[in-house]
Amino acid sequence: MSKGKIALVTGGNRGIGKEIARQLATKGFRVILTARDPKAGTKAASSIKGDVGFLALDVADDKSITQAAESFGKESDRLDVLVNNAGIYPDEGVDILTATRALLTETFQANTFGAIRVIQAFLPFLSRADQARIINLSSGYGEIGGLSSGVPSYCLSKLTLNGATIMFDQALRSRGIAVNSVCPGWVRTDMGGPNASLPVEEGADTTVWLASEAPHSLSGKFFRNRHEISW
Ligand SMILES: NC(=O)c1ccc[n+]([C@@H]2O[C@H](COP(=O)([O-])OP(=O)(O)OC[C@H]3O[C@@H](n4cnc5c(N)ncnc54)[C@H](OP(=O)(O)O)[C@@H]3O)[C@@H](O)[C@H]2O)c1
Repeated sequence: MSKGKIALVTGGNRGIGKEIARQLATKGFRVILTARDPKAGTKAASSIKGDVGFLALDVADDKSITQAAESFGKESDRLDVLVNNAGIYPDEGVDILTATRALLTETFQANTFGAIRVIQAFLPFLSRADQARIINLSSGYGEIGGLSSGVPSYCLSKLTLNGATIMFDQALRSRGIAVNSVCPGWVRTDMGGPNASLPVEEGADTTVWLASEAPHSLSGKFFRNRHEISW
C-alpha cells in the first residue's frame, strides 16, 4: 500500500523512533532512519528488515540539518512522511522554580526548535509529494492539563511543539501537507523507563497510522491511541 513512498524518522537509532522506522518499512515505505550518532544509526538501520537507509542528523544542529537535507536531495526529490521523533528529557532533580536558562535552552533546541528547523529544511521535498504528512512526537506532558511543575523544560518544550503543529498546519494546509502531534503514551524505552505501561510496538502505533492509513484530511490535531485529544 505504501510502496514507493519515502519516510524520514529523526532519532531513529533506538526507542520509539526505531520502532516507527521498523513498522513503516514493514508497510513498504522506503525509510530514511536518521540519528545523530552515525555508528548507532547505521547499526539500527541495518537491523531492520526492508528498504531502510541511514542519514546522520542532529536535530539540535542547523548545519547537520542542512547537510542531511542536501544528502537526502541526492537520492530523492520528494518526501512523503516526516516523523519528528528525536527528543530528550533532562528534567531530573529540577522544577519550574530551579530550571536554568541552560536547561531550558538545551531541551527546546532538541525537542522544539529541532522539529521546526527539520520541517523547514525538508519542506521543498514534502511540497513535491502527493499528500505529504508530518508527525511531531509530543507528550501528555505537553497538554495544557498535563503540565507539571516538576518537569519544567520537557513540558514547556512539548507544549510549544504543539503550538508549532498548529502553526505549520495553518501554513501548509493549502499546500496539501497534513501536520499533527502525537502522544505515544507511556512507553518502555530508555526515556519511559522499565515501568512504563506500553511496549514500543504500541507506542509507535498512532504515528504509523497517521503516516499511512489515517485520512489525510486530519491535520492540525493532537492524537493518542488513534483518537483526537485536546491540547
Ligand atoms: N517513552 C515515553 O514514555 C514517551 C512519552 C511521551 C512522549 N515521548 C516522546 O517520544 C519520542 C521518542 O521517545 P523515546 O521514549 O523513544 O526516547 P529515547 O528512548 O530516549 O530515544 C530518544 C531518541 O532521540 C534521539 N535524540 C535525542 N536528541 C537528539 C538530537 N539532538 N538529534 C537527533 N536525535 C536525538 C536519541 O538519540 P541518541 O541515542 O543519540 O541519544 C534517541 O534516538 C520523544 O520525542 C519523546 O519525548 C516518549
